Amino acid sequence: MMLDLKSSTLSTPFARDVVAGLSQPRKVIPARYFYDRRGSELFEEITRLPEYYPTRTEIELLERHGGDIARLTGKRRVVVEFGSGSSTKTPLLLACVDPAAYVPIDISADFLRESAAVLAAQHPGLEVLPVAGDFTRPLALPRQLRDRPMLGFFPGSTIGNLDPAAAVDLLRAFRATLGDEARLVIGIDLRKNPRLLEAAYDDSAGITAAFNLNLLDRLNRELGGDVPVEAFEHRATWNDALGRIEMHLVAQRDLAFSVAGRRFTMAAGETIHTENSHKYALEEARLLARTSGWTPLAAWTDAQAMFSLHVWGAAPEQLQP
Ligand code: SAH
Ligand code: AVI
Repeated sequence: MMLDLKSSTLSTPFARDVVAGLSQPRKVIPARYFYDRRGSELFEEITRLPEYYPTRTEIELLERHGGDIARLTGKRRVVVEFGSGSSTKTPLLLACVDPAAYVPIDISADFLRESAAVLAAQHPGLEVLPVAGDFTRPLALPRQLRDRPMLGFFPGSTIGNLDPAAAVDLLRAFRATLGDEARLVIGIDLRKNPRLLEAAYDDSAGITAAFNLNLLDRLNRELGGDVPVEAFEHRATWNDALGRIEMHLVAQRDLAFSVAGRRFTMAAGETIHTENSHKYALEEARLLARTSGWTPLAAWTDAQAMFSLHVWGAAPEQLQP
C-alpha cells in the first residue's frame, strides 16, 4: 500500500509547522522540534561541554541560594517544571522547598517519562505526575492539584528560545496556570562577550552541530523526508541588534528535497533558521517579569555574571494609576 504523505503526515503539529516554516521566504523550523529522543540525549551532552557554561553555572546558583529560595517561596508547594528534560537540576530545588508534588512538563515524551521515573525512585513518597506536551499551548495540570499553591520552575534559560514578545505571552500564561499565590524560579542567561557565546553554541567537539543537524534526520525519520543531511552545515552567530545567538543550517550547494510529501528547493548558502537564544541584561530580565504579570523578588548571578537565577511572585491583579 502506498503511503499518502500529503494527507497522512500533515495531521500532526510537527508536520504542519515544518511545512509552513520551510514554505516561508526565510526558512525556519521551531526550536521545540529539536527534542526527539536523540535530540534530548544530544542536549544532555551539550550541558557537559566545557564551552557550554549555562548548566554548571545555574547548578552553582541553585546550590548556593537554595535557602534563600525556600525563604521566598515557602514549603509544601506543588512544583511545576516547564521543559524539565532530564530533571537533573530538580533535586536541588526539591531538597530546599519540601514539595507537595512534582509535575514535570516536556515535549520529549519518552525522555520525560524515563526522567520522571528516575526522579520518583530518588524521592520515595513524592507524588510525581509527568505531563507530556507543548507548554506554549494550553495544558491542563492534573486535576487533583488545582487550587494548591504552586511553584513554577523554568531553568536553563529556555525562556531565551522565545523572542521577547512570545516570552511575555508565555510567562503571562504560566502566571494564569500557576495561580494568584504562585512563585516562579527562573534561569535567564546574560549578555556577555560574543566570542564566549559563539563558542558555547559551536563547540569544538561538534556536539551542538550534531544537535542542530539531528533536526534534519528527524524530518527524514518522522516525516518521510529525503533531506541530504550531509549537504548542510551548522552555523551559530551572535546577532547584536536582537541580543541573541542564532542557529542556522546552511545549504552547502543548490539542493532539493521532499518532506511530508512537499517539495522544497534551496540555493547554496541559503539557511534554515532553527533556534534563537536570547541573552538579557539583568534589568531586562526584571522588566520581562513586570511586563508579564510577575513581581521580581530576588535575583542572583555568579561571580563572572554569566547567568542569572530569579525568584518572581505572581503580581496581584490591581488597578494601575
Ligand atoms: N530544564 C532542563 C532542560 C533544558 S533543554 C535544563 O535546564 O537543563 C529544554 C527542554 O525544554 C527540553 O527538554 C525540551 O524538550 C523542552 N521543551 C522545549 N520547548 C518545549 C515546549 N514548547 N514545550 C514543552 N517542552 C519544551
Ligand atoms: C534549551 N535551551 C535554553 C538551549 C539554549 O542554550 O538555548 C538549547 C541549546 N541550543 C544549543 N545549545 C543549547
